[in-house]
Amino acid sequence: MTRVAVVGATGAVGRVMLELLRERSFPADDIVLFASPRTAGTEIDGRVVQLLDDTADLSGIDIALFSAGAGTSRQWASKFVDAGAVVIDNSSAFRRDPSIPLVVSEVNPHALRHHPGIIANPNCSTMQLMVALAPIHRAVGIERLIVSTYQSVSGTGKAAVDELDAQAHANLHGMDMPAPEAYPDHIAFNVIGAAGNFAEGDDHTDEERKMMFETRKILEDESIGVAVTCVRVPVRVGHSEAVNIQTREPITADRVRELLGDAPGVALEHVPSPLRSAGRDEVFVGRIRNDDSHPRALSMWVVSDNLRKGAATNAVQIAELLVADRAGSPVA
Ligand SMILES: NC(=O)c1ccc[n+]([C@@H]2O[C@H](COP(=O)([O-])OP(=O)(O)OC[C@H]3O[C@@H](n4cnc5c(N)ncnc54)[C@H](OP(=O)(O)O)[C@@H]3O)[C@@H](O)[C@H]2O)c1
Repeated sequence: MTRVAVVGATGAVGRVMLELLRERSFPADDIVLFASPRTAGTEIDGRVVQLLDDTADLSGIDIALFSAGAGTSRQWASKFVDAGAVVIDNSSAFRRDPSIPLVVSEVNPHALRHHPGIIANPNCSTMQLMVALAPIHRAVGIERLIVSTYQSVSGTGKAAVDELDAQAHANLHGMDMPAPEAYPDHIAFNVIGAAGNFAEGDDHTDEERKMMFETRKILEDESIGVAVTCVRVPVRVGHSEAVNIQTREPITADRVRELLGDAPGVALEHVPSPLRSAGRDEVFVGRIRNDDSHPRALSMWVVSDNLRKGAATNAVQIAELLVADRAGSPVA
């Protein structure tokens, strides 16, 4: 009997988690949904959304998929663990904790062997980058990365998608766009050159810092240089990344295409697009080319659905690994 909880079930990621549990025939005998007072009591697929408060019944939950923001994870994850669950957390709450594994299912499943009841899912932009880069890092080592992201608004959650739609609708109907709330500027028909927030005294955003830190933790190599600019674009779903990689040993673009052609979770395309990536689980990689400005550098274009592989798919894949482990197929 496996009982799964989805915390944040009504959100952009939570809804996709529920779709994936069904699509992938996840072996759950029972799925419990939790959300805030805003949507508690509503129904999704015939299940009533429960309020996550002190009266919530956490007993018997084996796996809890959290996607309700870092504050909720900090407040509730340990309570689920104390009640017997393993928490797979989508927020940034635990990613920097050295005792908590940060896992991309195709890249470092071995990190699941030791966990204190909580497993962290990486940030969406880092996730897709790792699926594309790990095979190259294993083959020739990565010395330095320069990444520019083109991140969709669903990466900020459901409210940001509604905001893009409302601004675009107003503009197309000759009305003033509603004032921005999710971002410091209008997002419709615009580009915001700093995705994320600036911490006091930092000239990089938290999104940029996440990619720097998480890349090194997942690839288990603190020496990798990471230069990153995170940008928000008016795309509903699908993050894109222009990536320049400086490797330790030389490698040709043809060899990279071969490596990625065999890599789990990667699909090669000439020019991937977020619109075509939406609803898919693969990380699409294209425009792989040697960078003539440096003897050991390559450029590529990496695109993936941030709600799926960037969040929900990886969380469910981790849950599948845990279930298989319990059934006697140990994680790598
Ligand atoms: N969107 C992405 O691409 C992405 C990728 C990777 C990681 N993440 C992370 O995943 C988390 C959720 O993101 P999202 O995009 O799905 O956000 P979202 O669309 O805003 O959804 C947030 C969800 O959390 C619930 N929630 C909020 N406060 C709560 C509380 N106090 N108790 C219980 N439930 C609460 C909301 O419930 P109500 O509907 O009742 O308000 C909703 O179900 C965030 O930590 C985010 O950083 C997101």
